[in-house]
Amino acid sequence: MSFTIKQPESPDEFRQYYDLRWRILRAPWGEPEGSELDGIEDQCFHIIVTNNEKTVGVGRLQYNSADEAQIRYMAVAKEHERNGIGRRIVNALEQEAINKNISTVMLDAREPAVGFYQNLGYSIDMKSYVLFNKIQHYRMIKRLTAQHADTRS
Ligand SMILES: CC(C)(COP(=O)(O)OP(=O)(O)OC[C@H]1O[C@@H](n2cnc3c(N)ncnc32)[C@H](O)[C@@H]1OP(=O)(O)O)[C@@H](O)C(=O)NCCC(=O)NCCS
Repeated sequence: MSFTIKQPESPDEFRQYYDLRWRILRAPWGEPEGSELDGIEDQCFHIIVTNNEKTVGVGRLQYNSADEAQIRYMAVAKEHERNGIGRRIVNALEQEAINKNISTVMLDAREPAVGFYQNLGYSIDMKSYVLFNKIQHYRMIKRLTAQHADTRS
């Protein structure tokens, strides 16, 4: 199976991007369509992975300060999990941070995803918030240097 990693550009790519985000990260908790968006989408860096023009993985980098970026809204379609798609998205988001001379990437990981991020070099900083009264999150951090960028694809 061949996967393409890129920034979404066309209206259809953005539609599929937000739809996957909603299906994986919001719909299972009964959250309505639209709840997957926040007010700063146009200021963020977005990545999609597609297979035959179907979006199967997404992720976003937001710029918290001149020196810190945050990964949010990571989602891979269930049937494509554990194929390295999440790793490729995180690598692309980290590369964007490196390109912007940002040295720290942080994120709030859902408890079941903590092991995924540990695999990619993130360390738990502290327990953070509970989403929808159900999903415990953990603040995780990685300090980046160009040499540390994981080049596996
Ligand atoms: C978490 C998620 C993004 C991971 O994406 P993925 O494409 O399945 O992950 P990859 O295949 O790239 O995994 C990379 C490595 O992490 C490991 N890994 C993946 N998910 C893991 C998990 N939940 N726990 C522990 N390790 C995990 C993989 O085995 C792989 O290790 P390897 O390189 O040694 O083989 C995906 O499972 C997902 O969308 N989950 C539901 C939504 C979610 O929780 N999003 C994160 C919100 S913070």
